[in-house]
Amino acid sequence: EWTMDNFIEIEVEKIREQVGDKKVLCAMSGGVDSSVTAVLMHRAIGDQLTCIFVDHGLLRKGEGDMVMEQFGEGFNMNIIRVDAKDRFLSKLSGVSDPEKKRKIIGNEFIYVFDDEASKLTDVKFLAQGTLYTDIIESGTETATTIKSHHNVGGLPEDMQFQLIEPLNTLFKDEVRELGIELGIPEHLVWRQPFPGPGLGIRILGEITEEKLEIVRESDFILRDEVRKAGLEREIWQYFTVLPDIRSVGVMGDYRTYDYTIGIRAVTSIDGMTSEFARIDWDVLEKISKRIVNECQHINRVVYDVTSKPPATIEWE
Ligand code: XMP
Repeated sequence: EWTMDNFIEIEVEKIREQVGDKKVLCAMSGGVDSSVTAVLMHRAIGDQLTCIFVDHGLLRKGEGDMVMEQFGEGFNMNIIRVDAKDRFLSKLSGVSDPEKKRKIIGNEFIYVFDDEASKLTDVKFLAQGTLYTDIIESGTETATTIKSHHNVGGLPEDMQFQLIEPLNTLFKDEVRELGIELGIPEHLVWRQPFPGPGLGIRILGEITEEKLEIVRESDFILRDEVRKAGLEREIWQYFTVLPDIRSVGVMGDYRTYDYTIGIRAVTSIDGMTSEFARIDWDVLEKISKRIVNECQHINRVVYDVTSKPPATIEWE
């Protein structure tokens, strides 16, 4: 009989047999699939596993530290955190086209990963969190950084690693179950999808440090209030966007001319179609007030009430 318990046992045995005494690399994004992959690999081969966590500076507030605490310290895994913010931001400077931004971030991700990987010796394998659905729908965009950038066939040619994909017979709900079984905290196993290009595609137009700060803070407030309202599992994805517009407002006796924050919150089964989430007005009011009060240069908050189609979930 197939259970999650004996799945772990069987996979651990298989991984040990395949890897022997060689070393394995894993690209860690903090997302569900790469986290579960890394923890499963670690269960099997311990310190023979090294994870590379590329912090491109486009992550959500507290995310980098969280990954290091939960997995580096909590699970005692070897994780190399690469602070590549400057590298990414300088490549992105002056770029406002969404697809160009995606391409730059994806390529830079591979360069940074390669630079780190080439410092390590004796690595024979690369572990990836490819799911069953990624194989049958290959070509679909997914929320895990590594897959969108390092997808099967997308590996740099001179990378002589053999792939290990221990989740490639599983669906998403089974991966979450596996994560729980492996001891990953529930709030991480149930995280909302987060795109590989991160906050980079939630700042419409050119990315600047100031705009990053605004979108990161407002996103943090939104997540905080969604959690307090107990809506985390009901809403498929929820985030803020910073459109490239400014509008007039008033503060005390002064006229302001500042940015607008857009709130996007959708319900969905698989991300292919979605409806805007019917969040309570009172919850939205709280979020709006906090964003205006706590974020610099925001004088207006709007709620996105379009479905997909015709809109997409992200604004870029
Ligand atoms: P859209 O905006 O196309 O998004 O309705 C559908 C799902 O895909 C995610 N998404 C991405 N994930 N790289 C990713 O890894 C990307 O470039 C990307 N663009 C969109 C989006 O967050 C949603 O879950």
